[in-house]
Amino acid sequence: MNILFVCLGNICRSPMAEAVMRHMLAKEGLSDVVTVDSVATGDYHTGEPPHIGTQNKLKEKGISFDGIYARRVTLDDIVEADYVLAMDNKVCGRTKALCDPELEKKVVLLSTYGKGGWEEVPDPWYTGDFDLAYDLVLEGCSGVMEEIRAKLANGAADA
Ligand code: 4NP
Repeated sequence: MNILFVCLGNICRSPMAEAVMRHMLAKEGLSDVVTVDSVATGDYHTGEPPHIGTQNKLKEKGISFDGIYARRVTLDDIVEADYVLAMDNKVCGRTKALCDPELEKKVVLLSTYGKGGWEEVPDPWYTGDFDLAYDLVLEGCSGVMEEIRAKLANGAADA
């Protein structure tokens, strides 16, 4: 299985989600079963490591962000992914715009996997609120983890 997180710049929210998801999978011994990546819809920050705010939050939580550098989404990324999880509606729309109608169905908001009460992960590039971004990313990733566990329990490792 293959999870792709998408945000605008790939330096604040989606690399945070990539690191959190990898951490969760590693704790359950699933790093080899599920691959995780993150990308941007824009190319403003290509090649850059996560924003210092994301770095600090991940360090505080003891979560590695080694090897995570920004890059722009490609059509292949979406084709290859099983889950394409967008941080907000603008990102979701821009990602879907790359897809044909069938492929587009794969692209959903991360909040689809949350417990409700929120739709977008507010962009800390503008808000400065990396705590809120982390809380929502954690909630969304926990929901994704539950779905993966259920899929694996049903023998759908290759699904
Ligand atoms: P992100 O935040 O989408 O969560 O990585 C942003 C980072 C940079 C910019 C916008 C959003 N920017 O316009 O450079």
